Amino acid sequence: MAASGLGLATSFLPGHDTLLRRRRRRPASPAAASFRPVTAELGGVATELGRQLVEAVGVGLPCTVMQCGDVIYRSTLPRNDGLTITAPGVALALAAASYLWATPGVAPGFFDMFVLAFAERLFRPTFRKDDFVLGKKLGEGAFGVVYKASLANPEAAEKQGDVVVKKATEYGAVEIWMNERVRRACASSCADFLYGFRESKVKGKGAEEYWIIWRFEGEDTLYDLMQSKEFPYNVETKILGGVQNLPKGIGRENKIIQTVMRQLLFALDGLHSTGIVHRDIKPQNVIFSEGSRTFKIIDLGAAADLRVGINYIPKEFLLDPRYAAPEQYIMSTQTPSAPSVPVATTLSPVLWQLNLPDRFDIYSLGLIFLQMAFPSLRTDSSLIQFNRQLKRCNYDLEAWRNLVEPRATAELRRGFDIMDLDDGIGWELLTSMVRYKARQRISAEAALAHPYFNREGLLGLSVMQNVRLQLFRATQKDYSEAARWVVGLMARSGTEDVGGFTEAQLQELREIKPKKGSAQRNVLASLLRVQRKIVRTINESMDDLTSQRKSIWWSRWIPREE
Ligand SMILES: Nc1ncnc2c1ncn2[C@@H]1O[C@H](COP(=O)(O)OP(=O)(O)OP(=O)(O)O)[C@@H](O)[C@H]1O
Ligand SMILES: [Mg+2]
Repeated sequence: MAASGLGLATSFLPGHDTLLRRRRRRPASPAAASFRPVTAELGGVATELGRQLVEAVGVGLPCTVMQCGDVIYRSTLPRNDGLTITAPGVALALAAASYLWATPGVAPGFFDMFVLAFAERLFRPTFRKDDFVLGKKLGEGAFGVVYKASLANPEAAEKQGDVVVKKATEYGAVEIWMNERVRRACASSCADFLYGFRESKVKGKGAEEYWIIWRFEGEDTLYDLMQSKEFPYNVETKILGGVQNLPKGIGRENKIIQTVMRQLLFALDGLHSTGIVHRDIKPQNVIFSEGSRTFKIIDLGAAADLRVGINYIPKEFLLDPRYAAPEQYIMSTQTPSAPSVPVATTLSPVLWQLNLPDRFDIYSLGLIFLQMAFPSLRTDSSLIQFNRQLKRCNYDLEAWRNLVEPRATAELRRGFDIMDLDDGIGWELLTSMVRYKARQRISAEAALAHPYFNREGLLGLSVMQNVRLQLFRATQKDYSEAARWVVGLMARSGTEDVGGFTEAQLQELREIKPKKGSAQRNVLASLLRVQRKIVRTINESMDDLTSQRKSIWWSRWIPREE
């Protein structure tokens, strides 16, 4: 039978025992004859090459390449023209698809990088320094000064409204990158970003500056609001659109705190699901947006984009110790370098699962939750004292509670009372956020599904809610414990009589050559050697890739002022 008119014979399909045989030349069919001139154009060499390829690999080519009728398809098995769907094939396809969409998202990452980023560049408005009239200073950090500003052109100023301009030093490049990423992936999580550029260098005028522009969201940060004695009532109308029909008391306060927490978790979930970890979550970096009536995150200068591998910690940059999680870092590498973008993006789900870097922000948000509920922990000094106490309790909130509750002041007691409402579901959420081990902390997504946010249905937890609660608790287990347990089991199985190997013996096992007569010991030694080799190879290849990319490649994308 002649190769299919579409040009592809089915001989490549798995399971086909194919035979390609040369046949005596037949007069060509009228259809084939109509292709002749094209074939002739391709030249004899290409045709011959095509034919040889066909014969070598058993794959049919279009009639434009091979002379149809020259090669025939014969199979001893029944022909199968369609795609063969097999169970392992489907499983493989599903696994590949779920990998591509797993956090932080390989497939969305490539789409963002190659399509959205370019499209955005074509259509975004651009600004230059002269377009702005700077107003009052809003803040001054170690790496930049922030001003309220307006556009110089009165028409544009009226249309645009007030803006915020941050004049940042070298680290401004990271902030521009992060803000552009956020605008494309989860715009509502952070303050409305307008544009960022590197100012044109004036000769002999010091370091370059980056200008970063946002819409002016509002006057108050969560920090400002929490400093008032009125908190949380001073945010009630802002976020709930009016005063609740409830008497003042812990129930009403809890409802407000719950709404703030939901908004912040939502914002964080947006950042985390696109692979960005903020690393400086604190009330000072949460702004109330008058326009959208929600709290938004600001100040992405210390953020890491783990989808493309920007894990940037400037050497002089100190994380805020009041809100930083005990681990102080989110990934093992702390250099501004990264492997090439496609490599980093492709590996990102693995690295994400290994490190769970998002849980760093969760710890900080847990502390904000604590401060909102406990008025006595809202000042800097009281938070520092709390951190010291918690450290002494090995970061176990339950132990801290046992320590302070017996001699609690009325203010502290009030905090526990709020957390204990609805059978302590708030306390449950808080303790699943503030934990020593990152892996044991709840994710933003799981926290949003926590029954704390479904209080109405809590009086009698529905079966589904109960299942969900149990499920999320079960999934928060520490997998590194499980891994240690397996290794321990392997080690113990070596010498039952002496109760397992010591660390020194295990080290020895890694070094020794296989011995005769002790099969179990040899298998274990080989396994440990293979494991060590794999780890070493991965480390070496990552180092290699990293050293090739020492330059901060992504800063090249930041536009310069014309
Ligand atoms: N989009 C915005 N709308 C309104 N106010 C803003 C906006 N962005 C920043 N601000 C104000 O500017 C202050 C400083 O901003 P940001 O946190 O980004 O800078 P920073 O470098 O950390 O400076 P600082 O160390 O003073 O916090 C914020 O605390 C907030 O009051
Ligand atoms: Mg800040």
